[in-house]
Amino acid sequence: MVKVTFVSTDGAETECDAAEGASLLETGQAAGLPLEGTCEGQMACSTCHVIVDPGWFDRLPEASEEEEDMLDLAYGVERCSRLSCQIDISAELEGLVVRLPSESRDMSRM
Ligand code: FES
Repeated sequence: MVKVTFVSTDGAETECDAAEGASLLETGQAAGLPLEGTCEGQMACSTCHVIVDPGWFDRLPEASEEEEDMLDLAYGVERCSRLSCQIDISAELEGLVVRLPSESRDMSRM
């Protein structure tokens, strides 16, 4: 198991045990965090948006062009934004910290 920490908008930290091979989205959902992930990792929604701790951002495999395009549509995007469904848990991510964005955009209103 790999330890990852999610920081909620109110600053509360949730430390989770993530299974290697699972996505960060699945990990957060299993911990009961408000990550919608409407499209279940098909890169069609951006409701799985998280903001990676700056110290970790450069250590993650780079986002694909499709992911960057989806992130352009996410609400509250920052320099270290990623789609959590595209981050696979591996042993190298032990100690990863990500923050939940303040709001997510409901795609049905676009
Ligand atoms: S779950 Fe839809 S883009 Fe990640």
